[in-house]
Amino acid sequence: MYILSQSLLLKFIYFFITTQLYFIQNSHGNQINCTPSSCGEIRNISYPFRLNTDPKRCGPPEYVLSCENNTTSLYLNSHKYLVHEINYTKDTIRLAIPNVTLIESCSFPKYPLFDDMFYSYYYYVANSVPISFMSCPYPVNSSNLLEITSHCADKKLYGVNGSRAYIIFGKDVHQVKDMCEIDLVVMTSLPLKIKENVSFSTMHKALLNGFEVSWILPLSNECVLSPIGGYNFCGKTQ
Ligand SMILES: *[C@@H]1O[C@H](CO)[C@@H](O)[C@H](O)[C@H]1NC(C)=O
Ligand SMILES: *[C@@H]1O[C@H](CO)[C@@H](O)[C@H](O)[C@H]1NC(C)=O
Ligand SMILES: *[C@@H]1O[C@H](CO)[C@@H](O)[C@H](O)[C@H]1NC(C)=O
Ligand SMILES: *[C@@H]1O[C@H](CO)[C@@H](O)[C@H](O)[C@H]1NC(C)=O
Ligand SMILES: *[C@@H]1O[C@H](CO)[C@@H](O)[C@H](O)[C@H]1NC(C)=O
Ligand SMILES: *[C@@H]1O[C@H](CO)[C@@H](O)[C@H](O)[C@H]1NC(C)=O
Ligand SMILES: *[C@@H]1O[C@H](CO)[C@@H](O)[C@H](O)[C@H]1NC(C)=O
Ligand SMILES: *[C@@H]1O[C@H](CO)[C@@H](O)[C@H](O)[C@H]1NC(C)=O
Repeated sequence: MYILSQSLLLKFIYFFITTQLYFIQNSHGNQINCTPSSCGEIRNISYPFRLNTDPKRCGPPEYVLSCENNTTSLYLNSHKYLVHEINYTKDTIRLAIPNVTLIESCSFPKYPLFDDMFYSYYYYVANSVPISFMSCPYPVNSSNLLEITSHCADKKLYGVNGSRAYIIFGKDVHQVKDMCEIDLVVMTSLPLKIKENVSFSTMHKALLNGFEVSWILPLSNECVLSPIGGYNFCGKTQ
């Protein structure tokens, strides 16, 4: 059911080429005397990453991290992501959105995790699972749906005029019904058993855990334009 978009693919190929060139240029750059930095829990911040306080020659701007109050964050396309872990063996960085409480209180911030910009520098690893927040003008029954209408009712957003709020775990687009809207899509790298783990506490755990992305752009990638929220889902095919 996924629609492969030719123009999107072309865009990714373009970004792939430019990013590769960037790496090649940088590997010829002067990175001597670039000692690893650390910030709070993140101990070994080294190429391609650097802190914003490190010399510019130590890494390209897309991989600059900020250290605020012993918390490491990445600003990408003016959005903030918390850095939970960097693994130089797997070439992955685990990010999480800040303000999980905002989402829990149903004031969905429309955080664009599926922004095209994201795919210029980072790719989701294969095991990532999307968690989507959907609102519908009528009740919907499905095994992978978690109804959160009553949870959100006090915010006067749902339960009014019969409107319902749901969480969808996974990529099954058949869950999105006519006239329903996707309010927010977030990713998680928690190994979820989608049939068994549909609960509010799983959602909470998943958002706190965050999602893993790789900074090595794959040679052969899998990008699909998902009808869920119209986002592009790119995964590393390993
Ligand atoms: C620190 O990062 C470098 C790669 O930049 C890696 O070779 C090294 O193993 C890392 N050390 C630790 C303790 O993770
Ligand atoms: C820094 O962290 C401390 C303790 O975790 C917290 O009380 C304080 O509000 C934080 N400051 C900022 C600017 O985030
Ligand atoms: C950050 O952590 C270091 C060591 O863990 C500590 O010495 C320092 O006071 C902390 N800074 C802030 C702003 O919390
Ligand atoms: C990085 O990932 C590998 C493979 O999953 C794991 O064995 C290793 O412990 C991880 N390294 C760090 C520093 O977390
Ligand atoms: C997160 O919360 C802080 C403080 O409440 C706020 O300044 C910031 O704009 C929020 N970020 C998002 C993405 O909503
Ligand atoms: C939806 O589920 C409720 C109970 O959970 C049940 O009463 C109702 O018949 C179901 N509707 C459909 C269309 O399956
Ligand atoms: C509910 O429906 C009424 C009448 O159609 C409308 O005026 C009101 O704005 C609706 N409320 C919400 C929250 O959509
Ligand atoms: C998902 O469910 C399985 C089986 O019930 C359980 O073992 C696992 O811990 C759950 N995972 C999460 C993230 O809650």
